[in-house]
Amino acid sequence: MVVAIVGLGILLLGCLFYYWNDIIYALPATFRCSSAGGGRRSRAPLPPGYMGFPFIGEMFNFLYYFKFLGGPDDFINAKRAKYGGTGGLYRTHLFGSPAIIVCSPAANKFVFQSEANFQLEWPAVEIVGKSSLVAVHGESHTRIRSLVVKTTNQPDALRRIAEMVQPRIVHALQTWAKKGRILGYHEAKKVTFENIGNYFVSIEPGTQLDVLDKLFAGMVKGIRSFPINLPGTAYHHAIQCRKKAVAIFQEELDKHRDGFASQKTRNDLMDGLMNLKDEEGKQLSDVEVVDNIVSLVVAGYESTSISIMWALYYLAKYPSVIRKLQEEHSSICTNGDQYVTSDDIQKLQYTTKVVEETIRLANTASIIFRKARNDVDYKGFRIPKGWTVMCWVRYHHTDPENFEDPLCFNPDRWNEPPKPGSYMVFGGGSRICAGNMLARLQVAIFIHHLVQGYEWELVNPNAGLAYLPHQKPLDGVEINIRKI
Ligand code: HEM
Repeated sequence: MVVAIVGLGILLLGCLFYYWNDIIYALPATFRCSSAGGGRRSRAPLPPGYMGFPFIGEMFNFLYYFKFLGGPDDFINAKRAKYGGTGGLYRTHLFGSPAIIVCSPAANKFVFQSEANFQLEWPAVEIVGKSSLVAVHGESHTRIRSLVVKTTNQPDALRRIAEMVQPRIVHALQTWAKKGRILGYHEAKKVTFENIGNYFVSIEPGTQLDVLDKLFAGMVKGIRSFPINLPGTAYHHAIQCRKKAVAIFQEELDKHRDGFASQKTRNDLMDGLMNLKDEEGKQLSDVEVVDNIVSLVVAGYESTSISIMWALYYLAKYPSVIRKLQEEHSSICTNGDQYVTSDDIQKLQYTTKVVEETIRLANTASIIFRKARNDVDYKGFRIPKGWTVMCWVRYHHTDPENFEDPLCFNPDRWNEPPKPGSYMVFGGGSRICAGNMLARLQVAIFIHHLVQGYEWELVNPNAGLAYLPHQKPLDGVEINIRKI
């Protein structure tokens, strides 16, 4: 009898432990009567799913698919197999929060286009800055965004930046060829950061830029860590790094303002942000300029360098694509060391397809996060207020329903536009990437100089892939490279 009672107790405790998060989060949300869905009372059920153990939720399962199995999309496939399509919504508990996974193009479009219901909420506003584009909302967001995109994403800015980035890209490729063997990941990061130093704030390669690079590495680690600001934590270190980076940028801003700036510095991104005026003729404050420089570096640095790394990787694997590129690029310039303009690049249709295909497969922003500000009904399911919404966009890009033979690098698939909503590498809605044209341009310029002047091959063509924190080959894309 005693044994039976103890056994039953253990069983109950086990069940309680197993369903803890469902009991704590899903049950109350299921029975809460809300006015979701346009004012009428709603009792829509939560999307199906499993929320895992106390605190850790489904984190072990997530890591199992991302780190050990090497198949991040199978995390979703497993849910699809178990629960069905369900309009692309599943409930879970990840990164310390109850969450709804959103993984269909239509559902993600719905989330991105409803900023009133689904707010971008960076966990690390103290690191990127309270007045940076990613941290502000509503009218402030519209105002700052209109100024930021003028300096990063519009034709005049792109023309200027195309000129500014090429000397370092050409120099980097020459240096790589002299070394003979390089790690694509490290070298792509190096040249991207040198260019950021140059066209953001006119800082030349050297000690100050190396210091900034280390400070940004510290900040990015903090952004990915648990936000506990105690000495010894990555988050605390990131905040210290931010303070030092802000001091450097403030000093540069003072130099720009005092008129010590040379003609060259008057064309950089900091100068643009300082001098542009909004519709009411108001300029950004110093704090706004510096916060936005910091967040633009965070948003543009790793994403661009990883895309360049993937261009090196995929082109090495597909020599027929290189031959087509060489043919197209010889029409604008015959020598890999000559500079091209952004207008030249826009005309190159095949290159545009190669860039798009590279960025699709790079999946730099695999999951985009939002917070539900209200209870919202979608396709008969409830997304509860306060829960994290995980827009799992990488799933669209690797789903054969959207892209035939999705893991094959095939630029020609872009002869036709993708299915509506299936291509969301840059997000969507009012938060769509503010540097998407700039990212594409930099990858295209890099490809231009690479294919016109160099030949290279992968040292480990069968290297496995890592998926966290970003998707990249485990060997960091080691290549042998030489001048043609
Ligand atoms: C291939 C490279 C890149 C990819 C894949 C990428 C991807 C993204 C994505 C998915 C978002 C949306 C995030 C969200 O909705 O929460 C985003 C936002 C943003 N990106 Fe990019 N990005 C890239 C390059 C860049 C570059 C080069 C810059 C600028 C230097 C930049 C600046 C920004 C900014 C400022 C935002 C925030 C926009 C806002 O909140 O209004 N990105 N990016």
